[in-house]
Amino acid sequence: MTIFTAIPWKLYEDGSTRFWVHYGLVILGFVLAVITIIAQWAKPAPYGKHEANDANWGPMIHQRLGHIFSDALPGVLMFLLVFFFYGSKREHTNYIFMALWLTHYVHRGILHPMLMRYRSKKVALGITLGGFFPNCLFHFLNADFVGNADFVENYYYDPRFIIGILLYVLGYIINRWADHKLRSLRETKGEDGCTGYYIPYGGLFELITCPNYFGELVEWLGWALATWSLAGLVWALFSAATFIPRSWHNHNWYKQQFEHYPPNRKALIPWVY
Ligand SMILES: NC(=O)c1ccc[n+]([C@@H]2O[C@H](COP(=O)([O-])OP(=O)(O)OC[C@H]3O[C@@H](n4cnc5c(N)ncnc54)[C@H](OP(=O)(O)O)[C@@H]3O)[C@@H](O)[C@H]2O)c1
Repeated sequence: MTIFTAIPWKLYEDGSTRFWVHYGLVILGFVLAVITIIAQWAKPAPYGKHEANDANWGPMIHQRLGHIFSDALPGVLMFLLVFFFYGSKREHTNYIFMALWLTHYVHRGILHPMLMRYRSKKVALGITLGGFFPNCLFHFLNADFVGNADFVENYYYDPRFIIGILLYVLGYIINRWADHKLRSLRETKGEDGCTGYYIPYGGLFELITCPNYFGELVEWLGWALATWSLAGLVWALFSAATFIPRSWHNHNWYKQQFEHYPPNRKALIPWVY
């Protein structure tokens, strides 16, 4: 029984159309990640704490609907369509990855927008589309990969699979916990109609400003490791390109808003950044 293989799957025949579609989109994904980190560092996407009244991002739509549109359509519907109709591999490993992905996106795309207590009821269509289009690219890539990769037998025993899935689950728990904690801030302290911002305390919030982003980053790094794919890697990089600058902007925002903001907290990575 071979336990370790350098590349533990086969995808498309070199040079075939599907090969070029897949790897062409991977390259596009890398370019988009670089553009994103530069753009987000220069100016955070204008929603939530960084909402800008002067920015014209098009007509306003309902915030919950906007999130369902940008996350559930690509993350659940398109992912399933690509997996089942464009994908051809039907082994347990393929289904495990599909289930993991859906665990995240059914929550993020459907439950999370229904549950969160947003300060603004509306969001600009441009912001929604700014999430929707990159999501379509990266979610297509990942569905294409997990629906078509022919994994080696016994990949379940491979350390990349085991550690990657453990990281994914750990990141998921941290992300869910942190978003829940933020949501409960408005539940318990919302004398002002549940629209204010408060300093979160407890758990990872004692170390970093954005444990929700940290958790999600751990999740996608775990995904990239477990799938051992460029599709997973480029998606983890794109997520990092969003979280690294936005956590820094959020961190500075808290420091400006709250005089007594805990000085030892970092932005995204405990003790480091
Ligand atoms: N994969 C990706 O590329 C990607 C990109 C972005 C986000 N995400 C994920 O999407 C989720 C939400 O992201 P986000 O950028 O919207 O996060 P966020 O800015 O931390 O806000 C999350 C929710 O908590 C509320 N909130 C935040 N800070 C608060 C405070 N101090 N007091 C009271 N309420 C507070 C926000 O209200 P307001 O809306 O009123 O500000 C919002 O409803 C996260 O889990 C994140 O990991 C993923």
